[in-house]
Amino acid sequence: MIFNLETGIFVTFEEGEINARLETGISLLLETGLTILSVHDGTEHFPPYDAGCDSLWTMESLSTLVVHGATAKTPANHPVSLPIYQSASWTFSDLDEVDAVYSGEKPGVIYGRNGTPNHRALENLFARLHRAEAGVACASGMSALSAAFLGLLSQESKVVASQDLYGSTLNVLHDLRRFGLELATVEITDFDRMHTELQGAQMLVLETSSNPRLRIPDLPRLCTMAHQAGAVVLVDNTFASPYHCRPTEHGADIVMESLTKFISGHSDVMIGAVAGRHRLIEPIRSVAVRMGLVSNPHECWLSVRGTETLEVRMQRASSNAAELAHFLAGHSKVRQVHYPGLTSHPDHLTARQVLQNGFAAMLAFELEPSRQMLNNFLRGLGYIKLALSLGGVNTTLSHPATSSHRFLSPDEREKLGLHDGFLRMSVGIENLNDLKSDLEQALSGL
Ligand SMILES: Cc1ncc(COP(=O)(O)O)c(C=O)c1O
Repeated sequence: MIFNLETGIFVTFEEGEINARLETGISLLLETGLTILSVHDGTEHFPPYDAGCDSLWTMESLSTLVVHGATAKTPANHPVSLPIYQSASWTFSDLDEVDAVYSGEKPGVIYGRNGTPNHRALENLFARLHRAEAGVACASGMSALSAAFLGLLSQESKVVASQDLYGSTLNVLHDLRRFGLELATVEITDFDRMHTELQGAQMLVLETSSNPRLRIPDLPRLCTMAHQAGAVVLVDNTFASPYHCRPTEHGADIVMESLTKFISGHSDVMIGAVAGRHRLIEPIRSVAVRMGLVSNPHECWLSVRGTETLEVRMQRASSNAAELAHFLAGHSKVRQVHYPGLTSHPDHLTARQVLQNGFAAMLAFELEPSRQMLNNFLRGLGYIKLALSLGGVNTTLSHPATSSHRFLSPDEREKLGLHDGFLRMSVGIENLNDLKSDLEQALSGL
């Protein structure tokens, strides 16, 4: 790359270096007081340098240049991967453009909290995966749930929830009682009580496969019951992912997922989303935007990238999980295994109707309820780590009594059977034999 300066001097840079540092190189040259007359591309194939901003050449003040100098023209062709729109603030040419963007006449971004193209890409993807009209991406699974509760419920509302929900979901619903919300928690197969509690309720909250006991609700039957009572049904599909279940096809009105888990799949992002009909999603979007419950462009981008491999990851992980469930069920040190694919599971027949492509990659098992024994088991494991999340490519264990469900009262935990020996396993995509050997050697040391 050759610079022709007004002194008549030609300055030559190594091509790789100048390509990498073009903007810096030019600003340094300008600082010396020299004017660049022209820039020549030393190669045949390299596109001619285009500053993307004519005034760059006359900007002499470093303070202005450092703020305005990093310009580039929008390429006429398209990147394969959607760029990350890492900007909170967006410009408008005039007030007419502001109106056009606000009204949706022109595609545009109002402000980072209202969502960028990265938010829209993830929301469209999530909605399509669930055959829904619209979606909203939020900062986490819990913010997606909170936005849904705050957007659709009011002080007078009654919520009926499965008693088998993720601990934080139950906690949020309990918290909302401070604002007047009425809450009833019900065992999912107690249809008589469910019917009674649903009278006058606005919302029924279920998990496709519950955390941590893997209870599978009869979605078609419960959705019909809720609709007859005038309630909408929100289903947390985090454990199943759209690969194993699309709750909207079983009658659910809103599907929510912690995308932190299987959808993103690599334990490196916190994000959540809800999807459903426009009529239900728009009030949720308003709350999410106003209260700042939204995600950010980079996390949305990571989530879209992770979703690309969802199907292959889930195929492998759920087939591993089915094998490990059988292996653990036959082990003398294991008291009980909870996996919807086992005929011994109380919801096995329901799972056959509600889940597809197998029974998902989550299982739970019970050892003797001794903290010391559990610690020995956990310390004895190699690949399989204790980690208080799920849905990554690696196999992990969690202990609900000391983590997800630690804030429930001992009585509530007891009712759910979450004693000290209860472990939940999120099965990953590692080699099955390595996982079996890891479990075998840790169990045999007990
Ligand atoms: C079933 C379920 N729903 C919701 C959440 C909350 O998701 P997040 O941690 O992304 O807020 C979790 C988290 O573990 C979960 O397991």
